[in-house]
Amino acid sequence: MNNPCAAHRGWSNKAPENTLAAFQKAIEQPHIDMIELDVQLSRDGVPVVIHDFTLERTTNGTGYVGDYTLKELKQLDAGSWYSEAFAGETIPTFEEVLQLVKGKKKLNIELKCAGDWYPGIEKKVIELIRQYGMESSVVITSFHHANIREVSRLAPDLKKGLLIDGMPLLLDEQLEVTGATVLSMYYPFLTETFVRSYRDRGIEFIAWTIDQPEEMKRVAALDEGIVICTNEPERYLELRVYT
Ligand code: G3P
Ligand code: CA
Repeated sequence: MNNPCAAHRGWSNKAPENTLAAFQKAIEQPHIDMIELDVQLSRDGVPVVIHDFTLERTTNGTGYVGDYTLKELKQLDAGSWYSEAFAGETIPTFEEVLQLVKGKKKLNIELKCAGDWYPGIEKKVIELIRQYGMESSVVITSFHHANIREVSRLAPDLKKGLLIDGMPLLLDEQLEVTGATVLSMYYPFLTETFVRSYRDRGIEFIAWTIDQPEEMKRVAALDEGIVICTNEPERYLELRVYT
């Protein structure tokens, strides 16, 4: 078993998710190949890295991420909810993450947006990827396939993925319309027949978010190219070494 490993929201069982601390932990483990992260926009239009649309779960703020300027978001504590050892961690900007990760790991960049929830997010994210010369190290993904189609229109050269939670309808058409070449799938829906039929056409796979060893083994056995995205990289890396 030698499938690539992606650390979901950074190494999120060692440090608070989607913080520079979690990304640094993932960078320090040489066998983690990719880091997954979630991008939204501040009120003043700066791409920031946080999963929830609201601030309560992972910061000491309240309300919607998009209602605050970057300056306001940067005053929040994004580490204490996890452990006092991480007090003072802030919500990173997407640019800060690129600065930290460039040349060290691949990135799976999830756009947390629906339609025009964050107008212009695609362009801003693409510009930063180009500014940091990371074109060949990223895949841009979203559950909202219209946003991936927009990424494709603006940046046909960048790798794009469709996030899928379930059995997709009209998948061939969705791939064609969006220009995506990656399927980022909720792992229970990955079956041998499904993987084989798309892999044979050059489609790549990411499986999320697998924390159970039995499922890691099952999915990895479907194809050695499937990226195993997990909150528990150490669990997967132990399997990768011993099986
Ligand atoms: O990238 C896949 C996975 O992160 C999607 O779910 O809710 O953890 O962002 P979520
Ligand atoms: Ca995500």
